[in-house]
Amino acid sequence: MSENVRPETMERITTEALANAFIDEQIAALQAQIGDKKVLLALSGGVDSSVVAALLIKAIGQNLVCVHVNHGLLRKGEPEQVIEVFRNQMNANLVYVDAVDRFLDKLAGVAEPEKKRKIIGAEFIRVFEEEARKQDGIEFLAQGTIYPDILESDGVKAHHNVGGLPEDLQFELVEPLKFLFKDEVRVVGKALGLPDGMVYRQPFPGPGLGVRCLGAITRDRLEAVRESDAILREEFAKNGLEGKVWQYFTAVPDFKSVGVKDGKRTFAFPVIIRAVNTKDAMTATVENVPFELLQHITQRITSEVENVNRVLYDLTPKPSGTIEWE
Ligand code: XMP
Repeated sequence: MSENVRPETMERITTEALANAFIDEQIAALQAQIGDKKVLLALSGGVDSSVVAALLIKAIGQNLVCVHVNHGLLRKGEPEQVIEVFRNQMNANLVYVDAVDRFLDKLAGVAEPEKKRKIIGAEFIRVFEEEARKQDGIEFLAQGTIYPDILESDGVKAHHNVGGLPEDLQFELVEPLKFLFKDEVRVVGKALGLPDGMVYRQPFPGPGLGVRCLGAITRDRLEAVRESDAILREEFAKNGLEGKVWQYFTAVPDFKSVGVKDGKRTFAFPVIIRAVNTKDAMTATVENVPFELLQHITQRITSEVENVNRVLYDLTPKPSGTIEWE
């Protein structure tokens, strides 16, 4: 157990200089642990896995094999950003897996939230396992475990969903961030040269837009979630709310209502906007978004996003609502 306790002597990483010292120390430790063997990493593009990837690229270069699984539930532009940053800019050995149809086929007709989560998690492991089997000579599995994962959930990084690999694929674990808190991971990520959009991004659940496309996922509503979320993020960034509001996103329920567009009756979906602030995600308050901005975002979503005719703003704190709609 003691190997999972942050050493008391470890200084809190708050500056670039401290981050650089941590990076140098970790590179030496990783090189000593790994030697000339190969390491596999599920790279979601989230802060933790991205920082692990950047660190390992520095330490072992092409011997890190990053697998990015596009399950179709990522936000607009995310797979493209992973490819741009890691393959094009950092010259990583990156395997991109387009598993969109595979996930959406498995999820077709499944409305129950826990079942959806289980399908996404299980399918992720299956895709990752298949990619692992295609690689020769892998001896290590890197994970973006951070200290809160150890403190809160016995070291299980639930949203990385790689805990369930079969017996013959039980690689030795490489977890260079396991004693870091989230703010320290961001400082290290910045020092490693990752873009701000990756380092400071808001939390995003492992099952992704799957928890925001309510009920049974359909492609039309999934696109409505993805496109409306992109508009919301763009407008929050333009209006100084990015980095100020803890988490903001849209959700699309599985019912339609009557509206009117260009003098014609429509029958389409509503989009729900949620924007909340919290310290620990256990309770949350609603951001007081300026009314004019909400009106502008409503105007954009109803005119730019297909199959949508209304926008609603969720005024519910947590409790009684959770942050996600699911
Ligand atoms: P709720 O909806 O329970 O969400 O109030 C609290 C926070 O947890 C995030 N969340 C997840 N994060 N994997 C994650 O890493 C998940 O499966 C998951 N589900 C919810 C949610 O976005 C919010 O920030």
